[in-house]
Amino acid sequence: MTMSNDEHLRVSKIKDGTVIDHIRAGQALKVLGILGIDGANDEQITVGMNVSSDRHSRKDIVKIEGRELSQEEVDVLSLIAPNATINIVRNYEVAEKRRVDRPDVVEGVLSCPNPNCITANNEPVTSKFDVLEDGTRCRYCEQIISDDIPSLIDPE
Ligand code: CTP
Ligand code: ZN
Repeated sequence: MTMSNDEHLRVSKIKDGTVIDHIRAGQALKVLGILGIDGANDEQITVGMNVSSDRHSRKDIVKIEGRELSQEEVDVLSLIAPNATINIVRNYEVAEKRRVDRPDVVEGVLSCPNPNCITANNEPVTSKFDVLEDGTRCRYCEQIISDDIPSLIDPE
């Protein structure tokens, strides 16, 4: 058996649910964060980090058992994992393969780093960011953030 098959066995197949594949190596925990998955409920999650990818490189992979991500949830991933592939698995087969599309707006996912922003002051407002070519802009204070968007993910 080849090395590559061994790697596949290391992260076993799921029966029903969602496989987020081809995540940039090291980003899997951010993917879980942006999806609000923290292992607190009963969901069965498998995370593979730095597993071998076909092209002599490494990738992360996340498998969510028993839950099909909506297109809206998938699109939020474009902020941190634009090249990820979303596989909807039904009865062990890949039933659908989706690409991540860039949404125009993301609500309630990121927190604004501007300490003077109304969203940073315990007001009952939901964060709202416009998604730009190379960053995001807070709808409330208009601050544009281009670097390290994963660090803005609201830890809740
Ligand atoms: N997968 C899984 N459980 C299943 C079926 C598939 O965990 N019951 C995973 C595979 O291990 C793989 C991903 O879902 O990581 C996509 O499966 P598949 O389309 O069969 O693999 P590839 O053709 O290699 O996908 P791609 O072309 O997107 O790389
Ligand atoms: Zn703001």
